[in-house]
Amino acid sequence: MNYIEEIKRLKKEKNACILAHYYQEPEIQDIADYLGDSLKLAQIAMTTSADIIVFCGVHFMAETAKILNPKKKVLLPVLHAGCKMADMISPKEIVEYKKAHPKTKIITYVNSTASVKALSDCICTSTNALKIINHYLENGDEILYCPDQNLGKYAMKEGNVEFEVWKGCCPIHHFLDPKKIIEMKQKHPKAVVLAHPECKLDVLDLADYIGSTKQLLEYTRNQAADEFIVCTEKGVIHAMEKASPHKKFYLASDTLSCMSMKYTTLKDVYECLSKENNEITVEEEIAVKAKIALDKMLELS
Ligand code: 13P
Ligand code: SF4
Repeated sequence: MNYIEEIKRLKKEKNACILAHYYQEPEIQDIADYLGDSLKLAQIAMTTSADIIVFCGVHFMAETAKILNPKKKVLLPVLHAGCKMADMISPKEIVEYKKAHPKTKIITYVNSTASVKALSDCICTSTNALKIINHYLENGDEILYCPDQNLGKYAMKEGNVEFEVWKGCCPIHHFLDPKKIIEMKQKHPKAVVLAHPECKLDVLDLADYIGSTKQLLEYTRNQAADEFIVCTEKGVIHAMEKASPHKKFYLASDTLSCMSMKYTTLKDVYECLSKENNEITVEEEIAVKAKIALDKMLELS
């Protein structure tokens, strides 16, 4: 079967749209109507006129789309495509933290479950984390930033401020060894180093530019440099190469591959669109509370 043609036909027939994160496999990125980072995809999910959203990414992303646009049918081609970082904090832990620190504002990274979002004051993504954290600090609030310790530590360093951070992380970014970047820089001395803020500070200290996947992609498009060392998940290199075919991109380490993001195949997309299965649902009470925290992020972004 020609999955690409069948997917195109079904999209038209069912008024569906395909959203894909930059960490998806190249063939999935290529059939997407919209490609983006977690903020961009959430914004598209909120405004699309399609009746069905096929979300090629991980579970929390599809869940976020459903919360922001509850009337739409949101499908996740591979239901077990989860995010290890999102599993590093539970609603029970937040409830306990809030009991012990009733005045603290909970700022939660979008890589989290709907139940955790529902207990938060505001959500953020890698694009707007610094802005949102600063907004609360400037307001004189005490904050807990969860669950990504690395983005939290980066925000503390950038703003020269202190606040509580949870001990979660993205294992893909967290275990990137700075020695790999030093080796890469020796091999490619003219290359500009790009890093995602989910990397540890010792990696970020070696970076020329730090940003979300979309910001990194835009940077490669707009800079005069011809070579880049990429310190984030390898999928984004496909989008970078498409945007700047004459430039060279070197993945900092072979370990920068997120298994969950790679599960989705064209067959999965075709099957879930044709059967309209793998639908994402969120309990009403949780969805309403999580939406308040997501709306707060959109308001502050
Ligand atoms: P962004 O999409 O915000 O760059 O974050 C990457 C990520 O963690 C996706 O899982
Ligand atoms: Fe989660 Fe990391 Fe995979 Fe992103 S790359 S989905 S943060 S495990």
